[in-house]
Amino acid sequence: MGLRERLVERIRATGPIPFVDVMEAALFDPDHGYYTTRVAIGFEGGDYFTSADLGPAFGRALGRMASDAWSALGRPATWDLVEAGAGHGTVMRDLLAALEHERGEAALAARPAILEVSPRLREQQRLALTGHEMRWATAATALAPIRGLVFANEVLDAFPVHVLERGEDGVREVHVGETDGRLIEVLGAPSHPDLRWRVPEALAIGGRWEVSRAAEGWVAQTAAAIATGYLLLIDYADDEQGLLARRGAGTVRGFSRHRLVGDALAALGEIDLTATVNITAITRAAEGAGLRLIGSGTQRDVLIALGVRETAATSDAPIERLRSASRRSAAELLIDPNGLGAFRVLLFARDAPADGFRAFN
Ligand SMILES: C[S@@+](CC[C@H](N)C(=O)[O-])C[C@H]1O[C@@H](n2cnc3c(N)ncnc32)[C@H](O)[C@@H]1O
Repeated sequence: MGLRERLVERIRATGPIPFVDVMEAALFDPDHGYYTTRVAIGFEGGDYFTSADLGPAFGRALGRMASDAWSALGRPATWDLVEAGAGHGTVMRDLLAALEHERGEAALAARPAILEVSPRLREQQRLALTGHEMRWATAATALAPIRGLVFANEVLDAFPVHVLERGEDGVREVHVGETDGRLIEVLGAPSHPDLRWRVPEALAIGGRWEVSRAAEGWVAQTAAAIATGYLLLIDYADDEQGLLARRGAGTVRGFSRHRLVGDALAALGEIDLTATVNITAITRAAEGAGLRLIGSGTQRDVLIALGVRETAATSDAPIERLRSASRRSAAELLIDPNGLGAFRVLLFARDAPADGFRAFN
């Protein structure tokens, strides 16, 4: 029985299910979830691509951020370098290579680890990181107390969201019902009491608002595992004001083979489902867990400050000039103000200095 059939059966037995639970199942169900069974990232044969798919420049730039974190922490003899949601593992691979090349001492002292929930991606990460002494865990708690840096690129957008709608008579939550075996949206009462208070007053009647209690909970849990050091988050994101300016259109969307899928409910488990991250809510969750926001900017500004544009050819040979041109175009895509460059970067700290980061000078 497929995911849709199972959901239809459940809805017939117990009534409509909050959209957030359907999104959770579509992404992470052990038998049918997109991330469990078929996640495909990248240009060739993938459903979407990330900064990681544009060559080593992104990992190299993050290597410089990691190197700054190590210096800020006083160059400890051992430190944790943890990537959460590492996709193919190529960012960690490129980051470690850059660190070894540019800051050998920091690379030798690093204890790299990955937090990953997808068994399929864990396998790919093992292959990409062959030869490195790595640890894997599903949650930061297993690595606590972390002393060092935890970073996550495009991870928060993969957490399920509650979709709320402001009606004439109060806040309602989008649920999923069924008709003749087809999944449809229906409105129902909020599935958690606190959701009612999460919709900003300024949202117009009929407008939609998304809340990811899962993403906020993950940030709080990860933050709690950091004893000393930093949490770096990179994602397509907006603050509450920016999200309100979208006039309550909602941001949940599905991707398959680089195309937007109009009806996200039609192909559950087969497509990537994602939502824009609410920075205001994420910052509140991190601060609630004792972290301090010490740096914030766009991916464009941060990567430029980290030298992503330094792509000069190392010799005059035609092949080297060609390689340099290809590195330049990858760098331009990473900082495109209408694309990846508009992503937001947030750096939080606990019991660690705020100064010394080239990215936020
Ligand atoms: C959109 S992909 C991004 C992958 C990679 N960071 C990149 O930039 O290409 C999201 C990643 O987060 C992982 N993930 C989702 N939920 C997670 C969680 N709760 N803990 C750790 N990893 C998670 C997914 O399995 C996947 O590796």
